[in-house]
Amino acid sequence: MTEAALGASIQLHVLDLAGDTRVIEGAIGNSLMEIIRSAGIDDIPAFCGGCCSCASCHVHVDPAFVSMLPPMSQDEDDLLDGSEHRAAGSRLSCQIPASAALSGIRLTIAPQE
Ligand code: FES
Repeated sequence: MTEAALGASIQLHVLDLAGDTRVIEGAIGNSLMEIIRSAGIDDIPAFCGGCCSCASCHVHVDPAFVSMLPPMSQDEDDLLDGSEHRAAGSRLSCQIPASAALSGIRLTIAPQE
């Protein structure tokens, strides 16, 4: 049985564009983008719906969690290269499935282009 099938969830600490930290929960298996949007944080428009083609779900992941993230695809890397806000820890949140290892992850929503 998978973690998702067990209905487990994790906690995210999200610094939004207004400078407020929101502590939210989401189901393991959903993408971090889906969790953020489901929590009502609309700083992430997610124009492409999570298919790695818009970069509007750009976040900066706290360095303590970067090594726990899944590897970045070439498409994701290329999209982030087009962002003037790319920094250490930059990822597209639609490309990161929530997993138990990421519980408590801290991330900052990057400004939109
Ligand atoms: S939602 Fe479009 S790239 Fe993530």
